[in-house]
Parts: sequence; structure tokens; C-alpha cells
Amino acid sequence: MDIEGLTLSELRKRKSFKWRGYPEDVLPLPVAEMDFEIDPEIRALLIQMLEISDTGYLGPVPELNANFTKFALQRWGWTVDPEQVFTATDVGVGMVEFGRTVLNPGDKVVYNTPVYQNILNWINELKCQPVDAPLHKDGLHYTLDLDVVEDAYKKGVKAHFLCNPQNPVGTVFSKEELSKLAQLAKKYGVMIFSDEIHAPLVYEATTFTPFLAVSDTAREVGVCVTAASKSWNLAGLKCAMIVTQHEDQKARALSMPEAVHYRASLFGALAAAQAFLSIDWLDSALKTLDRNRKFLAEELAKKLPTVGYRIPDCSYLAWLDLESLNLGENPSEVLLEKGRVALNSGIQFGPNSGQFVRFNFGTSREIISEGIDRIVNATK
Ligand SMILES: Cc1ncc(COP(=O)(O)O)c(C=O)c1O
Repeated sequence: MDIEGLTLSELRKRKSFKWRGYPEDVLPLPVAEMDFEIDPEIRALLIQMLEISDTGYLGPVPELNANFTKFALQRWGWTVDPEQVFTATDVGVGMVEFGRTVLNPGDKVVYNTPVYQNILNWINELKCQPVDAPLHKDGLHYTLDLDVVEDAYKKGVKAHFLCNPQNPVGTVFSKEELSKLAQLAKKYGVMIFSDEIHAPLVYEATTFTPFLAVSDTAREVGVCVTAASKSWNLAGLKCAMIVTQHEDQKARALSMPEAVHYRASLFGALAAAQAFLSIDWLDSALKTLDRNRKFLAEELAKKLPTVGYRIPDCSYLAWLDLESLNLGENPSEVLLEKGRVALNSGIQFGPNSGQFVRFNFGTSREIISEGIDRIVNATK
């Protein structure tokens, strides 16, 4: 199966925020969704449901739990108990609703910038106090700084919202790092919430370790919140999963209001169940994305050689250092106004990232190339 990005005229028919959020002459490259057709098996399933007006409420979907369990074992060697997979509307809702079972307003919660901006929004939604333990930056390779994390834990932290793999910097944390993190969490009584939404999009050369697969300690102190939505491009269908592997955490999940489950959508849950069987489609998408992440490096080398870019180990988001282009305090604003290209501003993801932008390469090579050309135009 060969997966190619759709053309601009096809994409402009879409009604998602990415394609409605900007004027017609702007090339939109923010928002983490892909410009590919979805898996034909998922599309057929959704069409079949629509044809019989199967548009009602969500009930139990045991095939979602079973298929995710199978996928986790095959892909990562991770044994999941299907009885400990709980649905939620999306990852944000999963993090916040499980958060309510652990946290009280005012509690301290650690996060690691630069990171997906909604992690901070979820901490704020829970009325908790964010405590930043920034990632260690070595050139453009970012890793967990366990000393900084431990210093933060010493401040009486209750939870840590981890992003593994990390958006926007494209790092996949190692088993060793995660194992040490679990030990620290146990020592200081911190609960780890591992947002693993990008995990199926880890490239072949890199090993992804699910946090709950690391050790008994990790299973005791951790919960995983994940979804098929990022990897199979189903975000608008609304379904995520909260996964526990310890009786105490399972009890917490069961203590959430029943509505956390029913507020996911029937389409989302059924599409996710099919997605975890659609391995060929995922691997084909990864092949295209692998080519794209390298193509972006070639384009930058040719047209913008001073821009910093480390080819990410996962997903389709590039973290570009534009400092050398001297675009002022907010490069993304200049790029939008002068270049007519929309990118996420680095400052959204944390302090000291003002000269960065996030570039979505989950699209065609023509659009990637056009995006780079528009950045070049903005520098003139
Ligand atoms: C790390 C991370 N978590 C969560 C989300 C959003 O997930 P959801 O729409 O299921 O809340 C994203 C979207 O880009 C993400 O990058």
C-alpha cells in the first residue's frame, strides 16, 4: 500500500480546523493531523454505519480492548489486561478525568517543556499548580533530566504529566530513563500520567517502551492515556483509552463517573477498534512519513541551510530552530504575515522556545516543499 498526501484542492474541501482556521491563501501546517486518506477499512466501516444510520450512543466495545491488547503485545511486547482499558472522549479528557481521581485543586503537577501545550492546559483545568522540569537539551536532542525531575519531586509534587513520545521535540524516552523515573516517582509518592498518543508512530530504528511495561514499580505508580486518533488520523471521531495495570489504579479508573466512557463516540470507538488491526496501513503511513522526515532535511539543506532540525524519532512534527533567520521576537507571526504559511509558534510549547516553530510534515512532498519556499519568501 502506497500512501501519498492529498492535493491542496482536495484538502481545502475538508472542514477540520486545520483547513478552516486560516484564509485561503495561507498554507496551514500546524495542528497535528495528517493530509492522507484514512485507512480504507476504517472508511468502509464508517460508511457502513452511516448507511444504516447507526449513529446512536456508545455502549461497551469489547473489541476495542481486545484489539488494543493484541496490538500492544505484537508491537511493543506489552501485556495489557483488557479489563483495564477504559474509554474516554479524547486523551485530554482521559488525563483530566483520571486526574480528578488523584489530584485536588492546588496540588503540584510536573511537566517537561518544551511539550504539547495542552498538557499545561490540563493541569490548569484541574486547578493544580504546574511545576516545569525542562528537558535537557543537547543540540537539538532533548532528553529527560532526571536530576531536574527529582528536584521538582522534592517540592511535594503529586503527579507528573509525561509526554512519551514527546511532542514537539520527537524524542522517545529509553526504558532505562523510564525505569529510573518510576523509581523516583515511587520514592516521592508521585503518580505518572503517561500520554502515549504518538507511540504507534515511532519509526522502526527506535524502540518505544510503554511506561507501564517498564517494571512493577511503573505499573504501581503509573497510568497510560493513549488513542488511535493520532496515528490513524481519527481525532475528530473522539475516542481515547485510559490503561492501568495495577489494582489500585484500576480502582481509580472504576471510580470515574460512568459518563467518561459514554462521552466518547460510537464512531471513534469502532474506528479505533479497527485501527488496532490495521497494521499494514500504519506501516505504510510510517514509510511515507519516514521519507518525508528525510525529505524535509534535504529541502532545508538546499533552501534554508542555517535552520536547525533534528530528524525526529517519531511522528510527523518537526521542531525547527529559526534563530539564524533573524525574524524577530515571534517568527511564526512573520511567517504567517509575509510568507502566508501557518506553523505553531515554539513559545506555545514552553519558555526559551520563542525562536522555534513546529512544522507538520504529515502531508505531500509538494506541500512540504511549498512550506519551505514560503519560509524562504518571508525572509526576503
Ligand atoms: C502529546 C499529545 N497528547 C494529546 C494530544 C491530543 O489528543 P486528544 O485530541 O485525544 O486530546 C495531542 C495532539 O496533538 C498530542 O500531541
